Amino acid sequence: MPESPKRKVVVTGGAQGIGRAICEAFLREQAFVSPWDIDREALSELTGLFRAQKNLLLPLACDVAEPASVENASSKLLDAWGKVDVLVNNAGIFLNRPLAECEPSEWDRVLAVNVKSIFLTARALSPFMAPGSVIINIASTRAFQSEPHTEAYAASKGGVVALTHALAISLGERGIRVVCLSPGWIDTSGWKKQGVPPSPPLRDIDHQQHPAGRVGKPTDIAEMCVFLVSPQAGFVSGTNIVVDGGMTKKMIYVE
Ligand SMILES: NC(=O)c1ccc[n+]([C@@H]2O[C@H](COP(=O)([O-])OP(=O)(O)OC[C@H]3O[C@@H](n4cnc5c(N)ncnc54)[C@H](O)[C@@H]3O)[C@@H](O)[C@H]2O)c1
Repeated sequence: MPESPKRKVVVTGGAQGIGRAICEAFLREQAFVSPWDIDREALSELTGLFRAQKNLLLPLACDVAEPASVENASSKLLDAWGKVDVLVNNAGIFLNRPLAECEPSEWDRVLAVNVKSIFLTARALSPFMAPGSVIINIASTRAFQSEPHTEAYAASKGGVVALTHALAISLGERGIRVVCLSPGWIDTSGWKKQGVPPSPPLRDIDHQQHPAGRVGKPTDIAEMCVFLVSPQAGFVSGTNIVVDGGMTKKMIYVE
């Protein structure tokens, strides 16, 4: 029986954190995986980490907020692969800055990395995606609820949710599904390049406050990505899937 062709998967921000877990999950599925990341050091560490699968891995340095950088990575990718089956738009940056101190340039950067990047990658790669291909955009539960001083991030993630349904309608005409995935609190310690200072250890209360009884792990998001690109998820498009251990469904009033 002929071997089924391996899927070709692009993961932006794939060198660390949730993106690294997504790369690992698809490599386990024997897919070809291309992590795109602005951090060259983290990319080269990732290459070392996955050296056993180096024939499946195509790491590319890219600033996904920059049109020329996305064009450059896309052309290298297409020269090597010729097509893409799965695009996971995961790269993102967070900003906590009081409104009066938030510089317009900082606002622009957050919006560019978190939202404009999805327009850029979808524009460059979707012409090379066949019917049955899938785009997953990583948003956040912060698209729907906020802590103080997070205007730029919240606006960017709300934009990701809206951009997802717009793309799903446009690209649906070509048989491409587009889905949004909103993680809650995901502990990415242990998924960063060497030398990144560890975040403070999680407390019992951090876990207990979640209806699911624990803080999320990068693999929770990665496994959902694997499901969302499977034929079993073939009727899922344009929508947002929340993976947050139930936190956004919890009513919190001070007693
Ligand atoms: N960790 C969480 O609790 C959480 C919760 C909700 C949503 N998210 C979202 O999940 C995604 C991944 O988050 P994470 O916590 O794993 O982040 P992370 O900081 O651990 O990793 C992000 C990766 O993206 C890369 N990156 C940053 N800017 C880039 C750019 N301009 N071009 C290319 N690569 C770039 C970084 O170098 C890094 O490797 C983000 O979109 C984030 O907003 C995370």
